[in-house]
Amino acid sequence: EPGATVKDLGDALEVPPTRIIQVLMGLGEMKTLTQTLSIEEIELIAEELGVKVEIGAVEEPAPEEVLPDDDPADLEEKPPVVTVMGHVDHGKTSLLDRIRHENVQSGEAGGITQHIGAYQVESDGRKVTFIDTPGHEAFTEMRARGAKVTDVVVLVVAADDGIMPQTQEAIEHAQAAGVPMVVALNKIDVPNANQDRVLGELSERGLMPEAYGGETVTVPVSAKTGEGIDELLENILVVAELEDLKANPHAPASGYVVEGERDPGRGPVATLLLSRGTLNKGDVVLAGTAYGRVRAMLDYTGKRVKDAGPGTPVEILGLSGVPEAGTRFEVVDHERLARDRAQQAEEKLRRQELAQGGSRRSLEDLLGE
Ligand code: GTP
Ligand code: MG
Repeated sequence: EPGATVKDLGDALEVPPTRIIQVLMGLGEMKTLTQTLSIEEIELIAEELGVKVEIGAVEEPAPEEVLPDDDPADLEEKPPVVTVMGHVDHGKTSLLDRIRHENVQSGEAGGITQHIGAYQVESDGRKVTFIDTPGHEAFTEMRARGAKVTDVVVLVVAADDGIMPQTQEAIEHAQAAGVPMVVALNKIDVPNANQDRVLGELSERGLMPEAYGGETVTVPVSAKTGEGIDELLENILVVAELEDLKANPHAPASGYVVEGERDPGRGPVATLLLSRGTLNKGDVVLAGTAYGRVRAMLDYTGKRVKDAGPGTPVEILGLSGVPEAGTRFEVVDHERLARDRAQQAEEKLRRQELAQGGSRRSLEDLLGE
């Protein structure tokens, strides 16, 4: 398969992926489980292992799909990133609120009312990062850049409404990104909820539910009554466990913008999700046309933190402007370099606008609100 990763090849050849990493090291190559292999590498590995492989059509990956080479020794566990997707009003935000409240010890941060697009919960002593997606564009942007931003997708389907256009879109995104899905059949408390109908609709789309002998995990829930929420969280964790949840915290930080807004008091505020490396207060961040030194960094509870590692969402202050959701960010060594590159990005954007004769998309447009 073109774009096969070390893990894929291991699965295909039925050899442990660690064996493949060993062979690669013997060839002077460092690769991690989720990194893609070139045709040459696959051929060499197959030869080394004494097996025959047939290689399908070759597709060149987009430049940014090529992940930086991390030394396997630098990789450490990171919290799974779970993205909640689904049709408008099917209850994504309500479900996340529920999960968060069931998880929050009474008294502690119990009264969070402000909406945040990314936060963490702790389950069995492990942190899990959740991302709420008001629209799919940000996710599409990230995927177009070849980013593996999420480890699990929770597909929320209202049991009284069934699969709608944005549900279908979300299914396509998750499948194209190769991310496992857990289906939350929400609103089962509503009188005209019809779980069987939704299960049928899922099967028609190749997502055969476990109840029908398939492999798609479906959990009936109600964000309103709290029914099924524990089971949903359990299933998410089980699916996440099967994923490769390692990243290099020792590298320069990079990741994606989840949300951006201009706060009347604090100026531009961006919620970032780290994919790699550790972000420190004082680092210079470049995110598209916005740049700046991280003046303050807050975790999902609003507490100030000095650093944040892979799989963690943080809110940062100090940027020159509001970056668009889905924009990749990275830490650069010098503020001047960041400024130059932000200006270049700005000019490029302006040229594109002129060419299109349209105006620059606002975040609201981007999120479809
Ligand atoms: P967008 O962000 O606009 O796409 O919507 P959403 O998917 O986040 O849905 P949201 O959580 O805002 O819920 C939409 C409406 O459905 C709200 O009025 C919720 O109170 C209601 N709702 C969500 N979950 C349930 C549920 O389990 N049962 C019932 N009865 N109502 C629910
Ligand atoms: Mg919502």
